[in-house]
Amino acid sequence: MSASKINVAKQAVSYIADKLTPNMILGIGTGSTVNCFIEELASYSNLFKGAVSSSNASSKLLQSKGIEVFSLNDVNGIEFYIDGADEVDKNNNLIKGGGAAHTREKIVASAAKDFICIVDKTKIVDKLGSFPLPIEVIPESRSLVARQIVALGGIPELRQGVTTDQENQILDVKNLDLSNPKEMESRLNAIAGIVDNGIFAFHKPSVVLVSEV
Ligand code: A5P
Repeated sequence: MSASKINVAKQAVSYIADKLTPNMILGIGTGSTVNCFIEELASYSNLFKGAVSSSNASSKLLQSKGIEVFSLNDVNGIEFYIDGADEVDKNNNLIKGGGAAHTREKIVASAAKDFICIVDKTKIVDKLGSFPLPIEVIPESRSLVARQIVALGGIPELRQGVTTDQENQILDVKNLDLSNPKEMESRLNAIAGIVDNGIFAFHKPSVVLVSEV
């Protein structure tokens, strides 16, 4: 675990610690920064009810720390959603999905009152798009989707050896014009066969915490 990820994880715990209540459900993202957050959160587990998780990996880590994991179907609301990102621009638009979990991450983020994004300084960018955009696709539609992405100017590459928690595949796409993130997020998701893409322009974080080291 890097010092910067631990630093921002501690910032996030400080941010929510005095707001936790016995019935509160937290939303938990996926990735190495979130893993640091879960480690830091463990000692506060008696101060809230439990968590809705965005991936099987995070669920396992949460449970190993004694934090109860709930299905989104079984909770009424989520107070805070805490997650990392692959890129963050100055308007808090994100690219996510480096860990192939962006579909469920977006769902849980959309259910939360507040999305707190935790990143180290390397994730802050002037413009989205250096990080290849992850797109989750239904396997049967992969080639059909890839051709339509090429027609939009993108260069898709199948992420080898990876299937998502939903048993789908990931196309990592370079060269798309992301200068209007909302437009591209909508446009991609209108292609049949795409489950979701990793642009978070409609479900942006309300707070972005950046590592101080
Ligand atoms: C998971 O699919 C991603 O959206 C992660 O949140 C993102 O890749 C950040 O991961 P790290 O914290 O490991 O950099």
